[in-house]
Amino acid sequence: MNLLFVASECAPFVKTGGLADVIGAVPKALGDMGVTTRVLIPAYPAIQGLAASGKQVIAFDDLFGGPAQVLAVKAEGLDLLLLDAPHLFDREGSIYLGPDGQDWPDNDVRYAALSYVGAQIGLGAIKNWTPDVINAHDWQAGLIPVYLRQSGQPTPPVVTTIHNIAFQGNFAPSRLNVLRLDSEHYTPDGIEYFGKISYLKAALVMSDKITTVSPTYAAELLTPDFGMGLDGLLRARAGDLHGILNGIDLDVWNPETDPTLVANYTARSFKGKAANRAELEKRFNLTGDGPLFCVVSRMTSQKGLDLLLECLPSMVAQGGRLALLGSGDPHLEKEFIAASNRHAGSVGTIIGYDEDLSHLMQAGSDAILIPSRFEPCGLTQLYGLRYGTLPVVARTGGLADTVIDANEAAMLADVATGFQFAPINATMLGHAITRTIHAYAQPKTWASMMRRAMRHPVGWDLSAAKYLDVYSLAQER
Ligand code: ADP
Ligand code: GLC
Repeated sequence: MNLLFVASECAPFVKTGGLADVIGAVPKALGDMGVTTRVLIPAYPAIQGLAASGKQVIAFDDLFGGPAQVLAVKAEGLDLLLLDAPHLFDREGSIYLGPDGQDWPDNDVRYAALSYVGAQIGLGAIKNWTPDVINAHDWQAGLIPVYLRQSGQPTPPVVTTIHNIAFQGNFAPSRLNVLRLDSEHYTPDGIEYFGKISYLKAALVMSDKITTVSPTYAAELLTPDFGMGLDGLLRARAGDLHGILNGIDLDVWNPETDPTLVANYTARSFKGKAANRAELEKRFNLTGDGPLFCVVSRMTSQKGLDLLLECLPSMVAQGGRLALLGSGDPHLEKEFIAASNRHAGSVGTIIGYDEDLSHLMQAGSDAILIPSRFEPCGLTQLYGLRYGTLPVVARTGGLADTVIDANEAAMLADVATGFQFAPINATMLGHAITRTIHAYAQPKTWASMMRRAMRHPVGWDLSAAKYLDVYSLAQER
């Protein structure tokens, strides 16, 4: 099967969050099952070096306002198609935001262009290679099925994957012409959404199948609390919606071989964790010997870090320590820096984005905190499991599906791998932190939970097979 992935980011080349990890990992797992996946992403400046060695497979004189080309190149086990459109993507700084911290004002055109090119590839624009299925990821690839439909030609089926329904790509209807969208689609049962053009809604209406990144999130999306205005549409398409749990790249995230660690370790012998922890303590100016919790996260209201702020005094009073790496909401950043000053030695904050440090934190911490208000899947709890860093998570979305809470029954059955809490509020998070600190005080219990966590299957095998099933279903349309 030939498969085209279309997405706005892909690890290790360009990453702002878990989407990139998934796009960088699934094609490899599918490759083992005989699927040839090509990944179409924009050639942002971070990828220009790679693009230079690429082979031109499509050229456009005018792609939404400037010349463009698609360059094919293989790297890091991936078969990439780089959309080189300097007028849209050759910009320093964040891939989505301008220097003022606001979305680039032409994000609608930038990702319409990405979708348009994805559709063209679906229609056969690359010589000798046409996809049997297109898997479009998130709103940035949302217009693919619209452009395909507008072509009036026979088209491959489209599967759209929702990584986070909070990001919908909604833009003013005055842009219809610029975006080359037929106004006949601008209706409530088409791409219109509360007076805007919605890229994600377009995808959910027009794709053959829809997937999202965990079974629990798939169910949650059907409710007004989680569906963010699209739950009615998703209920109508519930038969086409599949929740497939994310996995992780077991080669990139392997404590036995990870080159960014101070010391490597395994589930048989995790003594090496201590050296990583010592390095973390140094980096975050931490003292004492209580359990070390970490956070590696975007700092947005989704992630529930304001709840953690409320719990810090009690956590520190119980001997718990925290190392936080993240960036985002300036108010939250300031609050965590202030908390680090207030609880010097027990709480440390590094504001920024640092891939290597994120690995070290998974290796050197005892537990990882993820108090998200909603979490489509979440990857950091999976990295935590693999690195023997027990996840303490809100019971929602993929967090609910991947961590086995250390309740009485799970402890008796010897299956617990972490700690869950619900409802999602500061009181219950505080309770989960206390439970974690108590478990940590029993070294034998803790060690057996670590060992179990490290052996819990978190790779892509099972889920890649499920994607394959959905692609087959889509082909039967
Ligand atoms: P989301 O995609 O919603 O941000 P995920 O848990 O799916 O959440 O994925 C987040 C990814 O981004 C993980 O690979 C995590 O390690 C990484 N990450 C988040 N914040 C940082 C940071 N400040 N520095 C390095 N990596 C980070
Ligand atoms: C989104 C979600 C996150 C998920 C990731 C990859 O960013 O917020 O929960 O793990 O996509 O699918």
